Amino acid sequence: MTGTAPPGPRLPALLQTFAFLLAPGRYITACQRRYGDVVRFSTKFDSNFVMVFDPAIVKQVFQAPPDRLHAGKANSLLGPVLGERSVLLLDGDEHLRQRKLMLPPFHGKRLAGYAEVMREAADNAIDAWPVGREFALMPSMQLLTLEVIMRTVFGVEEGARKDELTRRIRAMLDPVSRRAGVVLLAMSGGYLGRRRIVERFERRRAEVDEMIYEEIAMRRTAPDLEERDDVFSMLVLARDEDGRPLSDGELRDELVTLLVAGHETTATGLAWTFDLLLHNPRVLAKIEEEGDDYLDAVVKESLRIRAVIPGIGRVVQKEPFSLNGYEIPVGIEINPSIAGVHRRAYPHHSEFRPERFLEPDPPDTYTWIPFGGGVRRCLGASFALMEMRTVVRRVLERTRLEPAGDPDKVERRGITMVPKRGVRVIQPQPPS
Ligand code: HEM
Repeated sequence: MTGTAPPGPRLPALLQTFAFLLAPGRYITACQRRYGDVVRFSTKFDSNFVMVFDPAIVKQVFQAPPDRLHAGKANSLLGPVLGERSVLLLDGDEHLRQRKLMLPPFHGKRLAGYAEVMREAADNAIDAWPVGREFALMPSMQLLTLEVIMRTVFGVEEGARKDELTRRIRAMLDPVSRRAGVVLLAMSGGYLGRRRIVERFERRRAEVDEMIYEEIAMRRTAPDLEERDDVFSMLVLARDEDGRPLSDGELRDELVTLLVAGHETTATGLAWTFDLLLHNPRVLAKIEEEGDDYLDAVVKESLRIRAVIPGIGRVVQKEPFSLNGYEIPVGIEINPSIAGVHRRAYPHHSEFRPERFLEPDPPDTYTWIPFGGGVRRCLGASFALMEMRTVVRRVLERTRLEPAGDPDKVERRGITMVPKRGVRVIQPQPPS
């Protein structure tokens, strides 16, 4: 970068890579303190990128015209799983077209209709919890959120086909989410040489695709298509401004995108919310007394203090991008740091205090950014928030959980920040 480049550490890329892998939070915070709110880094994964920590500067990024900053390019690592027509990977007009087609089912009455499914999925999860014995919440939340997606997004009927599709999806995603770094990197260029892992993944993806394409064929001719209320059926019926429907390939990629974007993330958000609640008896007691506004604040504060996705990317296009007086060259990725903003913009940032969201001057769309922002803001944000509120409420209505040990530690897994031990808890009494 030239004279107007942002400041940043001068450590060799290899050392910075280790710092990012071993202690990302500590390293990034230290650099933010030392260099300010726009910091340039260099690692073995990306030799030149810029992180942003200040809400006002994040606003410049979120409000930039979509043809100047591309998010799809920054998400390209997800390509092998999602497919190239995924809304997460597209940019420009194509992105806007897909996004518009996908938005309606995630709003208003349609969304409200999914609450019952979420409550039932919570009941199924609670019914399966052991009594008087320690267990991890995270896997249970993963099953729960997958069940919700299968019913609300895919709309597949209960039965052998649904079970088989769920099994194939888990077989495809489990290793990816566990070892995303390795697997995805290996696939995107193969330079880690893990050919066997790649081949196994491709086989499993083909098994999922086979069933999804069968579902697409069946859905297109389903006699009750117009009456169905799942996202899949709405996408089959959707038409863009030129009257064009989504092709089979586009449908496949968007369905897998919704699955990947909406399942692990929400499960992680829920697991963290319980971890925080169970270690904060004051907040737990207050939820029981207060109404839905406080519950909403609890969920939002959980996503603030434990950002599920710690940062997002935008790649500069066309000409250098001017960012708070610095000049960022074409091709460089700008990363609004979600976790960084969630620290930087809040007094006593490490305190779990839902009241922040209920006081005058509450967090806004640039200080509270767990779902990103601008034209790329998470399509499922309202869906996820509703699911989290519904599940937390249902669990508190039906049972009591106790923490088994200290608050969980944060561990990076692929693109998410998960609880290291999976949030271990005990249910002392059977649920009602
Ligand atoms: C707590 C749960 C969730 C979190 C923390 C989360 C977070 C995010 C973030 C950070 C982005 C990138 C935004 C940006 O680049 O500015 C995103 C995008 C997206 N999310 Fe979510 N998400 C969650 C749940 C969901 C759910 C439930 C769905 C759907 C069922 C979903 C679907 C999507 C889609 C389709 C995009 C791409 C939007 C675009 O590129 O236009 N997410 N999400």
